[in-house]
Amino acid sequence: MLRREPRSVVAVEPVGPYTLLRIDRGGLEAGIPGQFFMLEAPGRLLPRPMSVCLAPPGELAFLIDPIGPGTRALCSLEAGDRLGLLGPLGNGFRLEVERPLLVGGGIGVAPLPYLSDALGEPPAVLGFRSDWHAEAAALVPNAEVVVEPTLVTDMLPAGRDVLACGPEPMLEAVRRLTPHAQLAWEAPMACGYGACYGCAVEIDGELKRLCVEGPVLHAAA
Ligand SMILES: Cc1cc2nc3c(=O)[nH]c(=O)nc-3n(C[C@H](O)[C@H](O)[C@H](O)COP(=O)(O)OP(=O)(O)OC[C@H]3O[C@@H](n4cnc5c(N)ncnc54)[C@H](O)[C@@H]3O)c2cc1C
Ligand code: FES
Repeated sequence: MLRREPRSVVAVEPVGPYTLLRIDRGGLEAGIPGQFFMLEAPGRLLPRPMSVCLAPPGELAFLIDPIGPGTRALCSLEAGDRLGLLGPLGNGFRLEVERPLLVGGGIGVAPLPYLSDALGEPPAVLGFRSDWHAEAAALVPNAEVVVEPTLVTDMLPAGRDVLACGPEPMLEAVRRLTPHAQLAWEAPMACGYGACYGCAVEIDGELKRLCVEGPVLHAAA
């Protein structure tokens, strides 16, 4: 059930260049892997969308790449600080798959630990731009890790049900190779629940509000 709650930060842990923000879950449900929450960043007017990375009992954890003012404000929170969360939002991954393979690039690794847990720790292929960024692979069991110039698309075995999250060029390449893959897309989001149309993107000639029709879409859709 969708809820908005002010919650407390339990811990803030560095993972390579990223930050794992662990929050006391309160009455919030974690949702389905691939769903996201809007996190209110201190000092910023608009909340920022973040995928659920881990959902241990009593907690929700988000892996955050500090690329701008909102994400930097979230990464500078400290244990005991309060922030508002709204979620779970959007459509997550479909979990009825026979031979799952998780594929992640960069901060696209964020929803994969929770997804891996839900699917019984299937194999994963993760790509990063440096060994430092690749420290995030420790969050995903059974992962084969590649660092640029090797790309995850160089490593995709045939005959798997691919579930992927990563930068747009990676997702485009994955769907060329595996047309039935489930792909988690990104767009800047202001509301997160369908009201502002700020996240509308054209996919296969159709405008989709990613926050309600995604973020996970079937590549062949
Ligand atoms: C459903 C969803 C889940 C996400 N999950 C995570 C997550 O788990 N961890 C994480 O670190 N990030 C995640 N993101 C991306 C994150 O929300 C953005 O990086 C963040 O909102 C940027 O805010 P900012 O104020 O730090 O930077 P801004 O100043 O807002 O943006 C910095 C730069 O990034 C671009 N940008 C901002 N947001 C996006 C976006 N969503 N897609 C593409 N370009 C963008 C801006 O145009 C600008 O060039 C997710 C995004 C979506 C839509
Ligand atoms: S973020 Fe407002 S409609 Fe999608």
